[in-house]
Amino acid sequence: MEETDSDGARQTQDRINAYWNYRSETYDGDGGHAIQNEEKRPVWLNTLRGLLTPAPADVLDVGTGTGFLALLLAELGHRVTGVDLSEGMLTKARQKAARLGAAAVPSTFRVGDAVDPPLPPASVDVVISRHVLWTLHDPVRAIRNWRRLVRPGGRIIAIDGLWRLRTHQPTVPVPLPGAEATADTVKAPAPWRAAWNEHYGAVGSELPLFATEEIEPSMAAFRDAGFPDAQLSRLAEIERIEQESTPDRAPATPRFVISAQVHA
Ligand SMILES: C[S@@+](CC[C@H](N)C(=O)[O-])C[C@H]1O[C@@H](n2cnc3c(N)ncnc32)[C@H](O)[C@@H]1O
Repeated sequence: MEETDSDGARQTQDRINAYWNYRSETYDGDGGHAIQNEEKRPVWLNTLRGLLTPAPADVLDVGTGTGFLALLLAELGHRVTGVDLSEGMLTKARQKAARLGAAAVPSTFRVGDAVDPPLPPASVDVVISRHVLWTLHDPVRAIRNWRRLVRPGGRIIAIDGLWRLRTHQPTVPVPLPGAEATADTVKAPAPWRAAWNEHYGAVGSELPLFATEEIEPSMAAFRDAGFPDAQLSRLAEIERIEQESTPDRAPATPRFVISAQVHA
């Protein structure tokens, strides 16, 4: 029988969507989210070239947000669909695609749940995500569903970081539920901090990978979803360039990619 979300999971997701709708207005302006300088573009393009087979492939970018990966992958010549549950983030992605014109074709953006994407089985070569695993209410179910969408020989690629490492917090740290405020917390909160606290403060404990300080739980999610051979790599070059745009995060947030092949 097909699994469906419980009321609790739906309420959790509603909170998450509300946060990202609010955050969509400022998301690309913050260091580490968008390509803000031309040094970053070739580094990301090279990283993606190394992770995917040569273009063109059919790629699904789950939790595409403002289309960061989707638009770079389109630039590499892949046929990309980006899905997200935040209309606000999707609007920004479509606006960016329109500004890029031909370079962003073929990319399409539509509403869709990363946990259960609205695509037919075996319809893509790659399911990819960036900075999404940590916010999923059921990452194992999501990865199982991604597997169904990928044609034999294709890949699942999940890029993420250890955002809640206590030793790597920005000067205005993201507080964990129940964490005590510090002098830095109250010094200069980012404008979006109140919305973050309101929404993720309420649901963070429902998300299995939200507060993890290790990569292992993400690897375990892949194993539990049927990928005992999932491969882990650190993204050292991405850590370097992204830290330059987020100097308040020192040392650099560990960033990693998990890649799993779908066998016939
Ligand atoms: C940190 S942002 C990352 C956006 C983008 N992937 C990037 O690399 O910039 C997380 C994104 O995941 C989306 N998201 C969270 N849960 C989702 C779900 N269940 N289905 C689809 N999108 C989801 C949010 O709306 C948000 O756009």
